Amino acid sequence: MKSLEEMDVAGKRTLIRVDFNVPLKNGVIQDDNRIVQSLPTIRLALEKGAAVILCAHLGKPKGKPVSEYSLAPVAAHLSDLLNMEVPLAPDCIGPEAERMAMELAPGNILMLENLRFHPGEEANDPEFAAALAKAAEAYVDDAFGTAHRAHASNVGVTRHVRECGCGLLMKKEWRYLAEVLAAPARPYAAISGGSKVSTKLTVLTRLLDKVDTLIIGGAMANTFLLAKGYDVGRSLVEPDLAHEATNIMNAAVDKGIKLLLPVDVVVGSSLDDKVTGGVFPVESIPKDKMVLDIGPASVELFTTELATAGTVMWNGPLGAFENQAFAQGSLAVARCLAGLDKATTIVGGGDTDAVVHAAKLQEKFSFISTGGGSFMEFMEGKELPAFTALKECGA
Ligand code: 3PG
Repeated sequence: MKSLEEMDVAGKRTLIRVDFNVPLKNGVIQDDNRIVQSLPTIRLALEKGAAVILCAHLGKPKGKPVSEYSLAPVAAHLSDLLNMEVPLAPDCIGPEAERMAMELAPGNILMLENLRFHPGEEANDPEFAAALAKAAEAYVDDAFGTAHRAHASNVGVTRHVRECGCGLLMKKEWRYLAEVLAAPARPYAAISGGSKVSTKLTVLTRLLDKVDTLIIGGAMANTFLLAKGYDVGRSLVEPDLAHEATNIMNAAVDKGIKLLLPVDVVVGSSLDDKVTGGVFPVESIPKDKMVLDIGPASVELFTTELATAGTVMWNGPLGAFENQAFAQGSLAVARCLAGLDKATTIVGGGDTDAVVHAAKLQEKFSFISTGGGSFMEFMEGKELPAFTALKECGA
C-alpha cells in the first residue's frame, strides 16, 4: 500500500477521501477531531502541489440531498483551520462539481458536497464511482473511520484512477493498531460498552480469540444480564439476542477468557433524569427503572482487573454518559486507564473519545483512534475493505 508521501501528486487533481463525519448541533461542529486529524494529509498534498478535491460523507441522508447534512459548516471550519478558502461544490458529481474540479489550480482546494446524497455511494455503484473519479488524476484515502465500509468513494473509486495511496492519518492508524494487534502486551483486556449487542455481536465473538479479559458495560450489558436470568426492569435491552449473549458467555468459559459484567448498576426513570434513582445490585433491579450506568462495586471490579493489564482497548461508554448523572462509571474507568503508566491504552469511537475528552485525559492515553466501527473491526482482526481496495489499486 503506497502512501501519499511516496506519490507524485504535483500538478495533479487529487481526490482525497476524508472522514469528516463530525457531530453537528444546529449547524455547529461539536467536536472537530476528525477534521484536525486529517490536516497533515491535506497540507502535505497542497505542499506537494496537488489540486486537492476533498470528498466526505456526513450523517445518514439515505441517498438524497438533505440540507441539515450539507458539508457547508465543515468546509467553512476547514477553511478557518487551513487559513485558505475552501469552496464547496453544490454536489459531489455532475457538471458543476466537474467544472470546479477541472478549474482548480495546483495548491488549491475544493470540497465536494456530501457523498451520501447519492444512493450510489453506499451501494458502491460503479457508475457513481466513475463519475466521482472523473476529474481525478490521483486518489488518496485518509478516511480511517469509514474503512470498514465498502462504498464507492473508498472502494469503487480505486478502479477508476491511475494512482492511489493512503493518507497520513490512515497510515498512522493502520501502523499503530496493527502493531498492537500483532503482539499485544498481556494481559490484554477489551472494554466494550455502548447501547446495542446487535451491532457488536461478531466483534465480541471474535475478540474472544484475541483478549484475556472482556469487560462488558453500557446498555449492551443488559442483554447479558437478562441472559443470566436477571430482571432488567425497563432498561434498553435486546431480548431476542439473549441467546447469543449466552453463547458468548459460554465461549468465554470454554476459551478460558475472563468475561466481566456489572455486579451493580445505577438506575433512573429516564435518560433525562437530573439525579439518579440509586444504586442496586444486578439481582434486584427495580421493575419500574432503567439501568443507566454501572455502579461503584462494578467500577471497583473492573478497575481492579484493569490495573494489571498490559494492553487495554476501549470502545463504548459504560453508561448514559451524555447525562452527568449517569457518567460516573465511564469517567471512573477513564481515570483508571489514564493512570496505567505501563499499559498500552487505546480508545476508539466518537462517544468513548468524548468521555476521555470530557475528563480532559486525552494526553494520558497511548492512542485515540478516529474510527468507531472501523476501529472495532480492525481490532477484531478483519481486513477492512478500504485497505484491500488500496492494495489492489494499480496492482
Ligand atoms: C463513523 O462515524 O463511524 C464513520 O464515519 C462511518 O459512518 P457510518 O457508520 O454512518 O457508515
